[in-house]
Amino acid sequence: MTLAGKKIVVIGGSSGIGLATAELAKAQGAEVIIASRSAAKLDPVAERLKVTAVPTDVTNDDSVAALFRHVGPVDHVVLTAAQLRTGPFKTVAMEDARATMEGKFWGAWRVAREAEIRPGGSLTLVTGFLSVRPRPNSAIIGAANGALESLARALALDLAPVRVNAVSPGVIDTPIRAAMPEAARKEMLAKTAAALPVGRVGMAEDIAQQIASFMSNGFATGSIVYIDGGALVN
Ligand SMILES: NC(=O)c1ccc[n+]([C@@H]2O[C@H](COP(=O)([O-])OP(=O)(O)OC[C@H]3O[C@@H](n4cnc5c(N)ncnc54)[C@H](OP(=O)(O)O)[C@@H]3O)[C@@H](O)[C@H]2O)c1
Repeated sequence: MTLAGKKIVVIGGSSGIGLATAELAKAQGAEVIIASRSAAKLDPVAERLKVTAVPTDVTNDDSVAALFRHVGPVDHVVLTAAQLRTGPFKTVAMEDARATMEGKFWGAWRVAREAEIRPGGSLTLVTGFLSVRPRPNSAIIGAANGALESLARALALDLAPVRVNAVSPGVIDTPIRAAMPEAARKEMLAKTAAALPVGRVGMAEDIAQQIASFMSNGFATGSIVYIDGGALVN
Protein backbone atom coordinates (compact mmCIF):
# COMPACT_ATOMS: atom_id res chain seq x y z
CA MET A 1 0.00 0.00 0.00
CA THR A 2 1.32 3.46 -0.82
CA LEU A 3 0.52 6.91 0.51
CA ALA A 4 -0.90 8.08 -2.84
CA GLY A 5 -3.73 10.56 -2.37
CA LYS A 6 -3.26 10.83 1.40
CA LYS A 7 -3.04 14.22 3.09
CA ILE A 8 -0.03 14.24 5.40
CA VAL A 9 1.32 16.91 7.76
CA VAL A 10 5.00 16.61 8.72
CA ILE A 11 5.92 18.89 11.62
CA GLY A 12 9.70 19.24 11.50
CA GLY A 13 9.52 18.70 7.74
CA SER A 14 12.17 21.28 6.83
CA SER A 15 15.13 19.18 7.99
CA GLY A 16 16.53 15.73 8.76
CA ILE A 17 14.07 12.92 9.45
CA GLY A 18 11.02 15.11 8.79
CA LEU A 19 12.40 16.26 5.43
CA ALA A 20 13.16 12.66 4.39
CA THR A 21 9.62 11.68 5.39
CA ALA A 22 8.10 14.54 3.39
CA GLU A 23 10.19 13.53 0.35
CA LEU A 24 9.18 9.87 0.63
CA ALA A 25 5.47 10.69 1.06
CA LYS A 26 5.55 13.13 -1.86
CA ALA A 27 7.31 10.55 -4.06
CA GLN A 28 4.48 8.12 -3.27
CA GLY A 29 1.89 10.65 -4.42
CA ALA A 30 0.72 12.13 -1.11
CA GLU A 31 -0.41 15.70 -0.58
CA VAL A 32 2.19 16.96 1.89
CA ILE A 33 2.20 19.92 4.26
CA ILE A 34 5.45 20.71 6.06
CA ALA A 35 5.61 22.80 9.24
CA SER A 36 8.36 24.14 11.48
CA ARG A 37 9.40 27.48 12.97
CA SER A 38 11.67 29.03 10.38
CA ALA A 39 10.05 30.17 7.12
CA ALA A 40 13.58 30.65 5.74
CA LYS A 41 14.19 26.89 6.16
CA LEU A 42 10.69 25.83 5.09
CA ASP A 43 10.29 27.85 1.90
CA PRO A 44 13.15 26.43 -0.22
CA VAL A 45 12.12 22.89 0.74
CA ALA A 46 8.48 23.60 -0.11
CA GLU A 47 9.50 25.01 -3.48
CA ARG A 48 11.78 22.06 -4.30
CA LEU A 49 9.30 19.36 -3.25
CA LYS A 50 6.22 21.24 -4.45
CA VAL A 51 4.52 20.95 -1.07
CA THR A 52 2.77 23.48 1.17
CA ALA A 53 4.64 25.10 4.08
CA VAL A 54 3.02 26.45 7.25
CA PRO A 55 5.32 28.16 9.80
CA THR A 56 4.49 26.62 13.19
CA ASP A 57 6.03 26.50 16.65
CA VAL A 58 5.04 23.39 18.63
CA THR A 59 5.87 25.16 21.91
CA ASN A 60 2.98 27.57 21.31
CA ASP A 61 -0.68 26.52 21.81
CA ASP A 62 -2.07 29.10 19.37
CA SER A 63 0.47 28.28 16.67
CA VAL A 64 -0.38 24.55 16.74
CA ALA A 65 -4.13 25.31 16.76
CA ALA A 66 -3.68 27.69 13.79
CA LEU A 67 -1.78 25.01 11.81
CA PHE A 68 -4.61 22.50 12.10
CA ARG A 69 -7.32 25.12 11.48
CA HIS A 70 -5.44 25.96 8.29
CA VAL A 71 -4.98 22.38 7.02
CA GLY A 72 -8.34 20.93 8.15
CA PRO A 73 -8.89 17.15 8.34
CA VAL A 74 -5.86 15.04 7.39
CA ASP A 75 -4.97 11.37 7.01
CA HIS A 76 -1.62 11.32 8.77
CA VAL A 77 0.42 13.52 11.08
CA VAL A 78 4.16 12.99 11.66
CA LEU A 79 5.95 14.90 14.40
CA THR A 80 9.75 15.09 14.32
CA ALA A 81 10.16 18.62 15.74
CA ALA A 82 12.32 18.94 18.82
CA GLN A 83 14.53 21.50 20.50
CA LEU A 84 16.83 19.61 22.82
CA ARG A 85 18.77 21.31 25.59
CA THR A 86 20.67 19.21 28.06
CA GLY A 87 23.77 19.15 30.26
CA PRO A 88 25.22 17.56 33.41
CA PHE A 89 22.28 16.61 35.65
CA LYS A 90 23.37 18.59 38.72
CA THR A 91 24.07 21.81 36.85
CA VAL A 92 21.85 21.91 33.77
CA ALA A 93 19.62 24.98 34.04
CA MET A 94 16.00 24.24 34.91
CA GLU A 95 15.10 26.52 32.03
CA ASP A 96 16.93 24.22 29.60
CA ALA A 97 15.40 21.05 31.04
CA ARG A 98 11.93 22.63 30.84
CA ALA A 99 12.54 23.80 27.25
CA THR A 100 13.35 20.23 26.21
CA MET A 101 10.07 18.94 27.67
CA GLU A 102 8.15 21.91 26.28
CA GLY A 103 9.15 21.15 22.70
CA LYS A 104 9.38 17.41 22.65
CA PHE A 105 6.70 16.23 25.09
CA TRP A 106 4.20 19.11 25.38
CA GLY A 107 4.66 19.79 21.66
CA ALA A 108 3.41 16.27 20.94
CA TRP A 109 0.56 16.70 23.43
CA ARG A 110 -0.58 19.89 21.69
CA VAL A 111 -0.36 18.32 18.23
CA ALA A 112 -2.32 15.24 19.31
CA ARG A 113 -5.07 17.45 20.82
CA GLU A 114 -5.42 19.82 17.86
CA ALA A 115 -5.00 17.54 14.83
CA GLU A 116 -8.18 16.34 13.14
CA ILE A 117 -7.07 12.95 11.83
CA ARG A 118 -9.51 10.88 9.79
CA PRO A 119 -10.51 7.45 11.21
CA GLY A 120 -7.87 4.85 10.34
CA GLY A 121 -5.32 7.59 9.80
CA SER A 122 -2.32 7.92 12.05
CA LEU A 123 -0.11 10.02 14.27
CA THR A 124 3.58 9.07 14.35
CA LEU A 125 5.86 10.46 17.05
CA VAL A 126 9.66 10.38 16.87
CA THR A 127 11.28 9.65 20.24
CA GLY A 128 14.88 8.40 20.60
CA PHE A 129 16.74 5.39 22.01
CA LEU A 130 18.05 7.37 25.01
CA SER A 131 14.65 6.44 26.50
CA VAL A 132 16.00 2.94 27.13
CA ARG A 133 19.77 3.37 26.63
CA PRO A 134 20.69 6.40 28.77
CA ARG A 135 23.93 8.31 28.28
CA PRO A 136 25.64 10.68 30.76
CA ASN A 137 24.48 14.31 30.58
CA SER A 138 21.30 13.43 28.70
CA ALA A 139 18.82 12.63 31.49
CA ILE A 140 16.24 15.15 30.33
CA ILE A 141 16.36 13.91 26.73
CA GLY A 142 15.98 10.28 27.81
CA ALA A 143 13.11 11.23 30.11
CA ALA A 144 11.36 13.23 27.38
CA ASN A 145 11.70 10.31 24.96
CA GLY A 146 10.41 7.85 27.56
CA ALA A 147 7.44 10.07 28.31
CA LEU A 148 6.71 10.34 24.60
CA GLU A 149 6.79 6.56 24.18
CA SER A 150 4.29 6.21 27.04
CA LEU A 151 2.14 8.92 25.47
CA ALA A 152 2.12 7.09 22.13
CA ARG A 153 0.80 3.93 23.80
CA ALA A 154 -1.87 5.85 25.75
CA LEU A 155 -3.01 7.81 22.70
CA ALA A 156 -3.44 4.59 20.72
CA LEU A 157 -6.42 4.07 23.07
CA ASP A 158 -7.58 7.66 23.53
CA LEU A 159 -7.51 8.56 19.83
CA ALA A 160 -8.73 5.22 18.38
CA PRO A 161 -9.68 4.54 15.61
CA VAL A 162 -6.83 6.90 14.77
CA ARG A 163 -3.60 4.89 15.07
CA VAL A 164 -0.68 6.20 17.13
CA ASN A 165 2.88 4.87 16.99
CA ALA A 166 6.41 5.97 17.80
CA VAL A 167 9.71 5.35 16.10
CA SER A 168 12.75 5.58 18.36
CA PRO A 169 15.93 6.26 16.38
CA GLY A 170 19.52 5.56 17.34
CA VAL A 171 22.24 7.91 16.07
CA ILE A 172 21.16 9.42 12.75
CA ASP A 173 23.35 11.79 10.71
CA THR A 174 21.12 14.84 10.33
CA PRO A 175 21.52 18.61 10.83
CA ILE A 176 20.52 18.11 14.50
CA ARG A 177 24.27 18.19 15.32
CA ALA A 178 24.99 21.24 13.14
CA ALA A 179 26.15 23.23 16.17
CA MET A 180 28.94 20.71 16.92
CA PRO A 181 32.41 21.47 15.55
CA GLU A 182 32.69 19.54 12.25
CA ALA A 183 35.75 17.48 13.27
CA ALA A 184 34.17 16.42 16.58
CA ARG A 185 30.90 15.56 14.84
CA LYS A 186 32.67 13.39 12.24
CA GLU A 187 34.73 11.64 14.91
CA MET A 188 31.65 10.92 17.02
CA LEU A 189 29.74 9.53 14.01
CA ALA A 190 32.72 7.39 12.92
CA LYS A 191 33.17 5.95 16.43
CA THR A 192 29.46 5.21 16.70
CA ALA A 193 29.41 3.56 13.26
CA ALA A 194 32.39 1.32 14.11
CA ALA A 195 30.67 0.11 17.30
CA LEU A 196 27.35 -0.80 15.68
CA PRO A 197 26.51 -4.24 14.23
CA VAL A 198 25.47 -2.58 10.94
CA GLY A 199 28.81 -0.72 10.72
CA ARG A 200 27.29 2.68 9.99
CA VAL A 201 25.18 5.38 11.59
CA GLY A 202 21.63 5.93 10.42
CA MET A 203 20.43 8.19 7.64
CA ALA A 204 17.22 10.20 7.79
CA GLU A 205 15.78 7.92 5.09
CA ASP A 206 16.18 4.87 7.40
CA ILE A 207 13.74 6.43 9.86
CA ALA A 208 11.45 7.84 7.16
CA GLN A 209 10.94 4.29 5.88
CA GLN A 210 9.65 3.19 9.28
CA ILE A 211 7.40 6.24 9.55
CA ALA A 212 5.94 5.48 6.10
CA SER A 213 5.32 1.90 7.21
CA PHE A 214 3.42 3.11 10.30
CA MET A 215 1.30 5.38 8.11
CA SER A 216 0.38 2.69 5.60
CA ASN A 217 0.05 -0.38 7.88
CA GLY A 218 -3.53 -0.30 9.18
CA PHE A 219 -2.75 -2.89 11.88
CA ALA A 220 0.00 -0.82 13.52
CA THR A 221 -1.02 1.09 16.63
CA GLY A 222 0.51 1.48 20.08
CA SER A 223 3.81 0.25 18.64
CA ILE A 224 7.25 1.59 19.55
CA VAL A 225 9.91 0.54 17.04
CA TYR A 226 13.62 1.08 17.71
CA ILE A 227 15.61 1.68 14.52
CA ASP A 228 19.12 1.99 15.86
CA GLY A 229 21.53 -0.10 13.78
CA GLY A 230 21.63 -2.65 16.60
CA ALA A 231 22.61 -0.23 19.39
CA LEU A 232 20.25 -1.87 21.88
CA VAL A 233 21.64 -5.36 21.38
CA ASN A 234 25.22 -4.19 21.36
N1 LIG B 1 19.34 12.67 14.59
C1 LIG B 1 19.48 11.82 15.60
O1 LIG B 1 20.57 11.26 15.85
C2 LIG B 1 18.30 11.50 16.47
C3 LIG B 1 18.41 10.43 17.39
C4 LIG B 1 17.33 10.13 18.21
C5 LIG B 1 16.17 10.88 18.12
N2 LIG B 1 16.09 11.92 17.23
C6 LIG B 1 14.86 12.69 17.19
O2 LIG B 1 14.37 12.78 15.87
C7 LIG B 1 13.63 13.99 15.73
C8 LIG B 1 14.06 14.69 14.45
O3 LIG B 1 15.43 14.98 14.55
P1 LIG B 1 16.31 15.37 13.28
O4 LIG B 1 17.60 14.66 13.47
O5 LIG B 1 15.51 15.19 12.05
O6 LIG B 1 16.55 16.93 13.61
P2 LIG B 1 16.71 18.23 12.67
O7 LIG B 1 17.33 17.86 11.37
O8 LIG B 1 17.38 19.23 13.54
O9 LIG B 1 15.19 18.67 12.39
C9 LIG B 1 14.38 19.19 13.42
C10 LIG B 1 13.17 19.85 12.78
O10 LIG B 1 12.29 20.28 13.83
C11 LIG B 1 11.97 21.65 13.62
N3 LIG B 1 11.69 22.25 14.92
C12 LIG B 1 12.53 22.38 15.99
N4 LIG B 1 11.91 22.98 17.02
C13 LIG B 1 10.63 23.23 16.60
C14 LIG B 1 9.51 23.85 17.19
N5 LIG B 1 9.55 24.33 18.45
N6 LIG B 1 8.35 23.93 16.48
C15 LIG B 1 8.30 23.45 15.22
N7 LIG B 1 9.33 22.86 14.59
C16 LIG B 1 10.49 22.77 15.28
C17 LIG B 1 13.20 22.24 12.90
O11 LIG B 1 12.92 23.42 12.17
P3 LIG B 1 12.98 24.89 12.84
O12 LIG B 1 14.29 24.97 13.58
O13 LIG B 1 12.89 25.85 11.69
O14 LIG B 1 11.80 25.00 13.72
C18 LIG B 1 13.51 21.08 11.96
O15 LIG B 1 12.64 21.12 10.84
C19 LIG B 1 13.85 14.79 17.01
O16 LIG B 1 12.74 14.60 17.84
C20 LIG B 1 15.08 14.14 17.62
O17 LIG B 1 15.11 14.27 19.01
C21 LIG B 1 17.11 12.24 16.39
